[in-house]
Parts: sequence; C-alpha cells; structure tokens
Amino acid sequence: MKDFAERHVVVTGGGGFLGHAVVELLLARNAEVHVPAFGEKDAKRLADLKDERLHVKEGVDLADEAQVEAFYEGIGAAPWASVHVAGGFVWGPIVDAGFEDLERMWRMNVASCWLCCRAAARRMKEAGEGGRIVNVSAKPALVPAPNVAAYAPTKAAVAGLTLGLAEELRDAGVWVNAVAPSIMDTPANREAMPDADFDAWPKVEGVAETIVFLASPRNATTRGAIVPVYGGS
Ligand SMILES: NC(=O)c1ccc[n+]([C@@H]2O[C@H](COP(=O)([O-])OP(=O)(O)OC[C@H]3O[C@@H](n4cnc5c(N)ncnc54)[C@H](OP(=O)(O)O)[C@@H]3O)[C@@H](O)[C@H]2O)c1
Repeated sequence: MKDFAERHVVVTGGGGFLGHAVVELLLARNAEVHVPAFGEKDAKRLADLKDERLHVKEGVDLADEAQVEAFYEGIGAAPWASVHVAGGFVWGPIVDAGFEDLERMWRMNVASCWLCCRAAARRMKEAGEGGRIVNVSAKPALVPAPNVAAYAPTKAAVAGLTLGLAEELRDAGVWVNAVAPSIMDTPANREAMPDADFDAWPKVEGVAETIVFLASPRNATTRGAIVPVYGGS
C-alpha cells in the first residue's frame, strides 16, 4: 500500500522503540518522513533504515519552543501528518517522587506534544489541505493505576489536548487522535520486568499499525479518539 506517496510526515521520538516502528512502516508506505532526533543516539538508531525519503535532523529538543518551530520550518513543506511519539516514563510512589520528576515528565510528554501540535496545525491550516495529527497518551491516563503520579497526569494532559484539538481543527479537515498503549513489548520493559508475561504486551509493530492508519488519508472518519492499544494486557 503506497497511500502516503509524496506526503510529508513528521515523527517525533522516531529513534525510540515505538517511533522506529512507525518510521519503518511509513517508509514502506512511501511517505517522506521527517524525524527530529534529540541526540546522536537517536540518529544512530535510525541509521539502519537506509532510505532517501528519511530525513533526520539532529539536535532538536522538542521541549524548546524555538527549536520546534525551526524544525518544522526546515521541512520546507506543510506536513500531511504529524505523529508525536516522543515522551518518557517514570514509576514510583508519590511519597518518594521529587517535584523534578513531574517537571521532567511535563517537558517530555506535554510540552513536546503541545509545541509540535501547534507547529503542525499552523502549517496544515495555512496549506488548507487538511491533515492528521496523532499523539501518544498511555493506559494510566484512562485506567487508574498506582505508582504513576508523575507520569499519568502528563499523559492525561496529552489526551485532553487531543480531544480539544480534534474539535478546534475539524473545519480545517485536520483529524486529531491519540493512541493509549499499555506496557509495550520493548527490550527496556523486558529488562525492567523480567517476570512479566511478555506475550500479553502489545508489540510496537502493532501499535505502529494503528498510528499509521490514524495518520493516513485512508482514515476518513476517525477523529477525537483515544484508541486503547493494550494487546492482551
Ligand atoms: N514503552 C511503553 O511501555 C509505553 C507505554 C505507554 C506509553 N508509552 C509512550 O510511548 C512513547 C514511546 O515509548 P518508547 O518506549 O518507544 O520510548 P523510547 O524508546 O524511550 O523513545 C522515546 C523517544 O522520545 C525522545 N524524546 C524524549 N524527550 C525528548 C525531547 N525533549 N526532545 C526530543 N526527543 C525527545 C527520546 O529521545 P532520547 O532517546 O534521545 O532521549 C526517544 O527517541 C512515549 O511517549 C511513551 O511515554 C510507552
């Protein structure tokens, strides 16, 4: 399926476990993929995907307003879709948490998503051709869970932002949705939870399929959804 041919798509966090799977799938669907990489580590992780339609810009901190604007400006075209995977996680009881944990989660999960939504929406509205925005929330934003007091509120903010923008950008033909993964099957999670049932965890390739559908022109009707991607967990 080549449904993204000649369409520009931004993928933040494209060097991470889920982001890499999203980038790979979009390239297979012929998209021009633009990834803001935080550091060299991110860019290196994408080096295996040798494709002239993959454009990686190193040294972009997505929690920095000026850097986000400069990145989107540098694409040189309005993106058809903007997929905001960048983010992070912290676990622990609230009594042991530092305020800096909340601030770090805010920057990684909320500021990065908010700034990229704004940069994408500005350009999509100006181009007047519609578009798609896909954010990444998380299951604890929807289903109560213990020990995620610094994390869950930031992913709930991503969900709230998604629902509001889906209404705000409707008339511009920009469909805004999010996915909410449960714990995904990644090497980092396997290392952190060696006794868990890995088979029950959603695979990043499966979550990427849902994201890429929501970002595609084939998604003619789904708007304002926070899609659970829980697999068997
Ligand atoms: N893994 C899970 O089980 C799980 C479950 C639910 C939701 N999620 C969410 O799903 C998304 C992807 O998860 P993942 O496991 O694939 O994470 P990951 O491998 O850690 O990837 C996250 C990516 O975001 C980038 N990033 C973070 N802060 C950034 C910033 N300020 N500027 C630029 N890039 C930044 C990271 O860059 P660096 O590596 O250079 O820091 C990394 O490339 C995240 O939003 C996460 O919260 C994950």
